[in-house]
Amino acid sequence: MQIKVSSKSREAFLRTHTHITFIEKGVERLVERDGITSLEIVVGTYEKITPRTLRTLIRSIVQSAKKHHLKKITLELPYGAFTGCHTYPEEWFWSTVAENLLLADYEHTQYKSKPKKSPLTEVLCLTANAMRATQGVTRGSIIAQSANSARDIANTTGGDMTPALLASYAKKLCTNTHTKVTVLDEKRIHALGMGGLMGVGKGSKHPPRFIIIDYDGRDAKAKKSKVGPVVFVGKGITFDTGGLQVKPGMAMYEMHMDMSGGAAVIATLHAIATLKLKKHVIGIIPAAENAISSESIRPGDVMTMMSGKTVEMLHTDAEGRVILADALHYARTYNPSLIVDVATLTGAALVAVGQHAHVILTKDRALEDKFRELGEESGDYTFPLPLWDEYTQYTKGVHADIANITPGDSRFGGTINGAAFLSHFTKGLPWVHIDMAPRMTSVPSDKLAKGATGEPTRLLVKIAECY
Ligand code: BES
Ligand code: ZN
Ligand code: ZN
Repeated sequence: MQIKVSSKSREAFLRTHTHITFIEKGVERLVERDGITSLEIVVGTYEKITPRTLRTLIRSIVQSAKKHHLKKITLELPYGAFTGCHTYPEEWFWSTVAENLLLADYEHTQYKSKPKKSPLTEVLCLTANAMRATQGVTRGSIIAQSANSARDIANTTGGDMTPALLASYAKKLCTNTHTKVTVLDEKRIHALGMGGLMGVGKGSKHPPRFIIIDYDGRDAKAKKSKVGPVVFVGKGITFDTGGLQVKPGMAMYEMHMDMSGGAAVIATLHAIATLKLKKHVIGIIPAAENAISSESIRPGDVMTMMSGKTVEMLHTDAEGRVILADALHYARTYNPSLIVDVATLTGAALVAVGQHAHVILTKDRALEDKFRELGEESGDYTFPLPLWDEYTQYTKGVHADIANITPGDSRFGGTINGAAFLSHFTKGLPWVHIDMAPRMTSVPSDKLAKGATGEPTRLLVKIAECY
């Protein structure tokens, strides 16, 4: 689907496009008058639309247009009348429109024998202020296309997206952008002392990879500054069986999406590079398959991490935090001004917030507030849980320094305990942990295709823009 902008009036397109008409009350219907068709969509009054409902409104327009097999549509959205959205400027408005048009149009067709093409080829946005709209639409289109790549990555089955294939995908996606993609193989990972990533990956015949995407869009003068880059770290478990403590029954379903954090980081770096942000941003994706074999790490095994700390593998299904720990320690070498890790880390995050928010955990109150605000602005909504020092006690090891789950296997505070484990490896760094497990897959009210959401790509891009 292409999104275009025009400052002409709808009359110029009556014969070529179906106009979307907004009505206050009634039912959605296709109306034909004098051979001219328009699709009536019920929106209520413009001023009642909020940033949140704007997103779902735009998505439902795409769903309806597709349902009616429309090929080209015109959309007239008077920003001035959307007073409920005036917390944000007009460029945000158009970026949000473009993002949600493209996110709603996405379908995962890779495994269909006869993939259906979306009938909708063009959305023409009509507005008096075509310049501002074009700027917003350009930004939003780039971000959504990248987020849709994250969905492609996450929706690909475990066998088709091994750590090496994930690395190839990242390289391919980032070609023709000003990024440098480096992939470390198992020998280099071992040589660096990443006992966590090696330990989790050793049960699989597909060995781990450590993917680094470096984008530096600063000018020569800014490059001299001592301020370090923003570093995004994404969990890249290409399939999570649970390891020897195998996941029961349906709990293993969709675990090919356990690299959704890594996928979002790859997509974010791609978007940032395409947007040509004048920033230095690094993406790091530790990638491994948590598989079952006689080589798999055993419950009770002890790993020596890159940081030198020893970790007891008390539960082989709590593997994400173990690979992230090595990646977070590695990230120190960049002297980061901010580290954000993104991971489908705990099922407990879904228990806490359902499926409508990313859980954020940080010891820095200002960062917590900022991430909540940027969540609202981007559409990747976030909500915090505490990460107080009181929780550190639950990460103490019996035989090693730290344990990857609370010894005794408490069912309480699972998401916090995961973050508390990671905090051992981020001491002294400005760090936010995003447990994205709740947003790994879409729910019907999202009005998105089933499967991966591509989140929190929009949020990560926004963070990169702000820091
Ligand atoms: N990848 C899972 C978490 C997950 C579950 C993500 C459901 C998305 C949907 C993670 O590796 C895991 O298995 N975590 C365990 C931790 C437990 C053993 C402490 C969990 O959540 O049960
Ligand atoms: Zn697991
Ligand atoms: Zn996992």
